[in-house]
Amino acid sequence: MAVVVLGSINVDVIADVDRFPSPGETRPATQLAWMPGGKGANQALAARRMGARVVLVGSVGADALAPQALTHLEREGVDLTYVVETRRWGTGLALIAVDRTGENTIILYAGANQATGEHALASLDHVLRPRDILLVQSEIALAVVAEAVLLAQRRGAITIWDPAPALPDPPPVLLRADVVVPNQKEAEVLTGLAIHDLKAAKHAARRLVENGAGMAVVKLGKEGLVWAEAGGVFYLPAEPVEAVDTVGAGDMFAGALAALRAEGMEWHEAIRWANRAAGLSTTRRGAQPSFPRREEVLT
Ligand code: RIB
Repeated sequence: MAVVVLGSINVDVIADVDRFPSPGETRPATQLAWMPGGKGANQALAARRMGARVVLVGSVGADALAPQALTHLEREGVDLTYVVETRRWGTGLALIAVDRTGENTIILYAGANQATGEHALASLDHVLRPRDILLVQSEIALAVVAEAVLLAQRRGAITIWDPAPALPDPPPVLLRADVVVPNQKEAEVLTGLAIHDLKAAKHAARRLVENGAGMAVVKLGKEGLVWAEAGGVFYLPAEPVEAVDTVGAGDMFAGALAALRAEGMEWHEAIRWANRAAGLSTTRRGAQPSFPRREEVLT
């Protein structure tokens, strides 16, 4: 089965800082890097590196940034047939600061990602097969993401929604995806519950299932993750790693989960390996360049 990813395609400009600037303050960057990014593109590469057949649906500008965003994906074998070029906006760009603890903040220019609409839905209609996995996030218009999930449900495909970045009041169909994979902040926004410990995280995961998700995985960074499904609520500690940069770790998790499920792995097993893959991605800088390959994860 294929993993079909609908989502954003960006270039990331990543500055390392000792600490984040306060409002009105300037901080020096100790290092600067330009890298391919965007939650959709990242998740497509993550799934590909885990061995899946991957199709990416999205948009870039007709500019010099587009090849920076796409060349790497093409070289690794992600199918870009349904990535379109628009003249209306430039390629999406993320300004990312990473502090010395590995935490990050992101300012996002959506740019060409705003062009992902009717054309993308027509592409999905063409490409999605029953039992494929449709993987979506919240970095393109949510109305389009919702239409895509409806289409996938009608087609008999499996839907995974990574509700990143956190936005309140999403279209209800997204809450009914087969799997919802928020981080702590996103789970708080979706449920209205404050998550200050593991018990609260389990409660939030359960709430997401009560609200319609087939399964909910709440990612807690270095605290690990919890997931809920009809059969119960479970906890998995984080991979014991020295994190230097958490950019894209959630994307690695979602892409790996989709890829492993697409090859027929049980959800519990797929969550375990995806957790390891995400942990490994934090030991290297950037999003896409940090993603481990299958051999490194499934050991
Ligand atoms: O999830 C990380 C991604 O978020 C970055 O690659 C950046 O482009 C933003 O979309």
